[in-house]
Amino acid sequence: MKISILGAAGFIGTNLAIKLAEDKSNVITLVDTVDSFFEPHRKMGLGFNYRIVNFNEKTDFDRLLNGQHVVYHFFSSSNPTKSNLNIPFELRDNVLTTSLFLEACVRQNVHKVVFLSSGGTVYGCEAICPISEDSSTRPITSYGVQKIAIENLLYLYNYTYKLDYRIIRLANPYGPYQRPNGQLGAITTFIYKALKHEPIHVYGDGTVIRDFIYIDDVVSGILNIVNGDIKLVNLGSGKGISIKQILGLIGQTLGIELNIVFDKARTVDVPVNYLDITRYIDLFGNPVTVPLDEGIKMTAAFLDKNYV
Ligand SMILES: NC(=O)c1ccc[n+]([C@@H]2O[C@H](COP(=O)([O-])OP(=O)(O)OC[C@H]3O[C@@H](n4cnc5c(N)ncnc54)[C@H](O)[C@@H]3O)[C@@H](O)[C@H]2O)c1
Repeated sequence: MKISILGAAGFIGTNLAIKLAEDKSNVITLVDTVDSFFEPHRKMGLGFNYRIVNFNEKTDFDRLLNGQHVVYHFFSSSNPTKSNLNIPFELRDNVLTTSLFLEACVRQNVHKVVFLSSGGTVYGCEAICPISEDSSTRPITSYGVQKIAIENLLYLYNYTYKLDYRIIRLANPYGPYQRPNGQLGAITTFIYKALKHEPIHVYGDGTVIRDFIYIDDVVSGILNIVNGDIKLVNLGSGKGISIKQILGLIGQTLGIELNIVFDKARTVDVPVNYLDITRYIDLFGNPVTVPLDEGIKMTAAFLDKNYV
């Protein structure tokens, strides 16, 4: 199968590419903005093809998608923290660009588009936890708005042109290859800071509740959903845990005393978010095979070897 991953040099793209390469019949093309982002991938020797492209209104998506069967849409111009700083650009860079991408998917007869939406932001703060796929969507960030808009575009292109798609509303993934830069990925960032014995900055008082899932379980979950029949599925652990509890677990698991600094809470953070994963469980069983303490140990080992 010919598979392209757009936004492939990032956290989830990298882990998915490694898994897909286990099937030698897959021809995998990794696409991202900067050639040097692929240095780790080249060292893996897994036979990936590489394309360096910045997705925008001028991108020649037809050339990129020609002959591709399954295309993973894993790029986003921003993250929940930053997206409200420039709402019009957020919509242009993601919604408009994705519409042009989908037009090309239709012209090039792409079989299936896989979109990583955000279980953490599309529902906003009105939904009741655990949040099911049928809950209302009232995002409080333009990141969440663009995700919902792209979900609706996928519905539209399927309705109009029969373009097949899957939408994964993903909770909070963590693990190897997540960049520990503090923008996304609380667990990975906290572990990195802990290993370096640096202060850990927490927004608010640590009572914010999130739904964390280890990256290997995310990758297995994505592949199950891609190969299944249901178009929209939540993927998370289905359990909420507070930031304070996570910090306690990291300190205890790694045997490190953490230096925690509590900063002002942010308006972009919904207070509580964890997903109802009943739909996933009914289709494929429990997605969680890696408990949090094991995931913390594996993430710490990776960060220790590659970053610290
Ligand atoms: N990590 C999370 O917590 C999380 C949760 C839910 C959904 N998602 C979504 O999953 C997808 C993948 O997330 P990730 O954690 O791997 O992100 P990431 O930031 O690690 O990787 C995204 C990659 O996309 C590339 N990219 C961004 N804009 C681009 C553009 N215009 N042209 C070409 N490449 C571009 C970046 O260079 C980056 O390598 C994103 O759409 C993200 O919104 C992430």
